[in-house]
Amino acid sequence: QAATDYQAEDATISQGAVATNHTGYTGTGFVDYTNITGSYVEFTVSAATAGTSSLALRYANGTSVDRPMDLSVNGTSVASGVSFPATTDWNSWATKSVNIQLNAGSNKIRATATTANGGPNLDRVSVAAAADTQAPSR
Ligand code: GCU
Repeated sequence: QAATDYQAEDATISQGAVATNHTGYTGTGFVDYTNITGSYVEFTVSAATAGTSSLALRYANGTSVDRPMDLSVNGTSVASGVSFPATTDWNSWATKSVNIQLNAGSNKIRATATTANGGPNLDRVSVAAAADTQAPSR
C-alpha cells in the first residue's frame, strides 16, 4: 500500500528552522533542529482507520555521534531514545522506521531531541499501513 508523505518543513517546529543548505532533501527543505534537548517537530497525520502503521523518518546526521529522539503519538510516548546514527555527511539521508498505533482521523506525531546536540536534520515522515501479519483465512 502506498505511503503518505508529510514534509518536515510543513510541520509544527519548536526550536528548529527550515533549511536548504544541504542537498538530497525532498519537498522544499528540511528541518534543522536547534542543538538543544527538547527541540521537536510535530506532524499532523491522518489515518483512515485505527491500527498499526509504519512510520518512516527520513533524516541526515553528518556528525559521528547519534542524535536520539523520543517519539510520541497524541501526547503519549511510544518510543524512547530512538537512534538516528551518522549518515556519512549532511547530504546523505537515511530512513528510520518504527511501528506506531494511530487513531482513525487526525493524529499528532512528535519527534523530540533527547540530547544537547538536538535532533538530526529531518526531511519528512512517511506513513503506511503496517504489513498485514494476519494469516490468510484459506
Ligand atoms: C551543521 C549543519 C546543519 C546541522 C547542524 C547540527 O551546522 O550544516 O545542517 O543541522 O550542523 O549540528 O545540527
